[in-house]
Amino acid sequence: MRIDIYGLGYVGSVSAACLADSGHEVCGIDIDPNKVACINAGKSPVREPGLPEHIAAAVESGRLHASATPSGDADVSMVCVGTPSNENGSLRLDYLQRTMEDIGDALACRDSYHVVCVRSTVLPGTTECVAVPILEQHSGKKAGRDFGICMNPEFLREGSSIQDYRCPPFTIIGELDPRSGETLAALYETIPAALFRTKLRVAEMVKYAANVYHALKITFANELGVLCKRLGLDSREVFRIFCEDKKLNISPAYLQPGFAFGGSCLPKDLRAILYKAKELDVEPPVLRSILASNTRHIEEAFRLVKNTGKRRIAILGFLVACSGPLPDAGTEDAGQDAGIDAGADAGVGDAGEPASGSPASPTPASAPASMPAS
Ligand SMILES: NC(=O)c1ccc[n+]([C@@H]2O[C@H](COP(=O)([O-])OP(=O)(O)OC[C@H]3O[C@@H](n4cnc5c(N)ncnc54)[C@H](O)[C@@H]3O)[C@@H](O)[C@H]2O)c1
Repeated sequence: MRIDIYGLGYVGSVSAACLADSGHEVCGIDIDPNKVACINAGKSPVREPGLPEHIAAAVESGRLHASATPSGDADVSMVCVGTPSNENGSLRLDYLQRTMEDIGDALACRDSYHVVCVRSTVLPGTTECVAVPILEQHSGKKAGRDFGICMNPEFLREGSSIQDYRCPPFTIIGELDPRSGETLAALYETIPAALFRTKLRVAEMVKYAANVYHALKITFANELGVLCKRLGLDSREVFRIFCEDKKLNISPAYLQPGFAFGGSCLPKDLRAILYKAKELDVEPPVLRSILASNTRHIEEAFRLVKNTGKRRIAILGFLVACSGPLPDAGTEDAGQDAGIDAGADAGVGDAGEPASGSPASPTPASAPASMPAS
């Protein structure tokens, strides 16, 4: 396939070199003439292990070159321009917008089918609400009918980006329509990883979920690491053993959005570790915010229940709380007391609560109604 790659920074350079290596014809486009000259000289515009050799080989083979303007006959335009932060933390989209204007102008002159792929990290809705209108306005064409659009986030890490490109955890393609997704999926035929094709917004959000989670993991380990140190413990040993639990710790367990946690252990143990941190003069802001966040989640559930206007509400999970030992450890703390708290706050599960002015029977514990998840 012929691919135009906009933005020759980390993501663009690695994508360009690897796609050319896979046999595609790649044109790298950048507003920075130094980066364009660099690629055309067979050199890497960014410092990254292995990248200079790949770029040199790709340019030598004739499958990679760079330019200040689009190639005119590409099948796919891949957008890898920067999306840095504004001062207030919001996402700067002017590079992306300018690129979409350029691609839209080029699209206006094209007869063949073309797919525009956003690879930059953008918030959910950006591809549909920012990129598509600009492309349509500048091309005079309709997305999904006259051209395709995809969102294909990148999961590379600087320092091991070539390896990460070749062996990603998975490939995710958000697509406006099946034809767009099929065109892009063909680029990744040789990549040995699961391929998920989904909505544009889901692809955009998965990238943020991954990055936020990675940041959270690091902070969690660091906060507990400091505490370990103050306790005279080898934090690396603690975490090495902690990570050996692939059933509950390093696993999908407890990683489904739903109701708040509760039970006899999690709140108690969090309180105990926070008290110990206070005794040791250690301040762990993330650990400290967990219970507050959980309480907010219960309040939100209460609000959702209250807004239904219903007077009789059953809570799934009460049965577990009321009827003896739990079947396995995985269910013990996930919502038991929290369900009771929310129910009590909402005034539900109260046997004396009359419905429509008549005496009500208590909601049976096993009633198959569910608490709302956020
Ligand atoms: N760096 C990473 O490790 C990484 C990993 C995954 C995702 N991302 C995301 O990918 C995107 C790109 O990141 P990066 O680190 O490669 O950025 P970068 O700043 O290194 O490179 C961006 C390039 O885009 C060029 N550019 C800007 N406007 C342009 C235009 N109108 N036309 C052509 N080129 C233009 C710039 O000159 C620059 O060379 C960002 O959204 C980033 O969040 C980065």
